[in-house]
Amino acid sequence: MYVCLCNAVTDRAIREAAARGIDTMDALAAETGVGACCGACRPLALQILDEAQASSRGFHGAIAAA
Ligand code: FES
Repeated sequence: MYVCLCNAVTDRAIREAAARGIDTMDALAAETGVGACCGACRPLALQILDEAQASSRGFHGAIAAA
């Protein structure tokens, strides 16, 4: 789905950026353009980024515990 209508950034693009190590909203904006115009999408973009990071940590944590 489109998260940022101004710059046509999808939730998938945000998750892919998170997988590449993007871990802040400013870095995400620089990488994808999300939130760089009106800013209305920034809360949702940050939520998706946080969820992607939490998912990644859970995966790596499960490996570390094995
Ligand atoms: S909707 Fe993302 S900057 Fe406007």
